[in-house]
Amino acid sequence: MKTKTFFQCQACGHSSPKWLGKCPDCNAWNSFAEEKKEPSSRHASLTSRFGKAEPQTLSSIRPASEQRTSSGIKELDRVLGGGIVAGSVILVGGDPGIGKSTLLLQAISGISENSGKGLYVSGEESPEQIKIRAERLSIHSEEIILLPETSLEAIIHAATKLVPNVIVIDSIQTVYTEELISAPGSVSQVRECAAKLMLFAKKSDIPVFLVGHVTKEGAIAGPRVLEHIVDTVLYFEGDRGHSYRILRTVKNRFGATNEIGIFEMSDSGLLEVDNPSELFLLERPLHVPGSAVVASIEGTRPLMVELQSLVSQTNFGMPRRTTIGVDFNKVNLLVAVLEKKIGLHLGGMDIFVNVVGGLKLIEPAVDLGIITAVVSSLRDIPVDPRIFVFGEVGLSGEIRAVAQAETRLKEASKIGFRHAVIPAGNAEKMRGDFGLEITGVKNVEECIDTVFS
Ligand code: TYD
Ligand code: MG
Repeated sequence: MKTKTFFQCQACGHSSPKWLGKCPDCNAWNSFAEEKKEPSSRHASLTSRFGKAEPQTLSSIRPASEQRTSSGIKELDRVLGGGIVAGSVILVGGDPGIGKSTLLLQAISGISENSGKGLYVSGEESPEQIKIRAERLSIHSEEIILLPETSLEAIIHAATKLVPNVIVIDSIQTVYTEELISAPGSVSQVRECAAKLMLFAKKSDIPVFLVGHVTKEGAIAGPRVLEHIVDTVLYFEGDRGHSYRILRTVKNRFGATNEIGIFEMSDSGLLEVDNPSELFLLERPLHVPGSAVVASIEGTRPLMVELQSLVSQTNFGMPRRTTIGVDFNKVNLLVAVLEKKIGLHLGGMDIFVNVVGGLKLIEPAVDLGIITAVVSSLRDIPVDPRIFVFGEVGLSGEIRAVAQAETRLKEASKIGFRHAVIPAGNAEKMRGDFGLEITGVKNVEECIDTVFS
């Protein structure tokens, strides 16, 4: 009997009984590949993962206390919600060359120092290459076991025999299961391998780290599907030109998301950054127009960040708007507010906005920072270096209160700021003395008047 096959989009996982030139779901061209129809093994794996499914009352369930181990890297432990949970599967995604292998080699070394053996499976680099990296990182642990293997069955076999305290798979795209005919890295392979590793992790209580490459589109190598399978998804980000690296939680079944860990890539590996605010403000030019400091929050962590803007006359044609680290449309919107509500002439101006240090700021509280930096550059007046701002700006120029105002104020006060320009809604509720002069502002005009008085 002929084995049944179907066609699946390698970009989004959409399946179809016949080949299609264009995916009706994600509109990718020429992305369909033939896949073997498997007896629904994933259904089986789901039920077996949690034992035989019997209906039971919620109150009768006794939660097993999560067992967490430290990776020896504080920043990594924090993004994981306070250490590595036994039997969890953690996906670490990021651009090639950002430092995923370095991070995980350092983590496996930390874990093996704390609790014993760690298994590092590499399908990308030879043991010699890994050794060279380990020398650079001064890792000489006897407890790290290398396995250059890409067959999932062989990896699980080795892991079952070895019983390590942690497994690192570098990368999930190189691993294949012998049960499927499609090439390693295809949606079905990646998904099936991840599901099997998940099953293995839950059964054995061994935590598994998966390295995943990110495609140009930003999804983890086509298979976004992977994100649904694993327990935790971390993205390792940063500019190649900068030495800062940010580890961000995108999904976490055992902790908060949007938590960040900050590292600096040095000659001898990744260093943890304990005081990021000081680091991001280190090279701040004082008394220079176009620079403003905003108190931002990433996860639970306050960060003082410098925003820079350059406003200059457009030489020909359309004015240019360029943003790095903040949303392009957000900047356009704020510029429109400045034109309409304050009457600034920005229509014939090129406007550039940049977040210093390669950070990406997405929360609305940075709005006021963008406004301040743009006005400072346009008017050619520097902002007093002891002033900082935060607040969300609405379309009618009103300034809205933001969350966690006190955390922001404390951080700013700690590193020596003196004057806070913040939403009036936050200022009214403020209790206690932060060692700061606090000015609450209701609209953009009040903010500009205060900052540039
Ligand atoms: P790597 O961990 O191999 O990245 P990935 O696994 O994400 O592809 O690290 C890549 C870069 O980091 C490489 O360009 C060299 C640099 N690097 C350092 O600057 N210092 C170091 O100590 C190490 C090990 C790497
Ligand atoms: Mg690598």
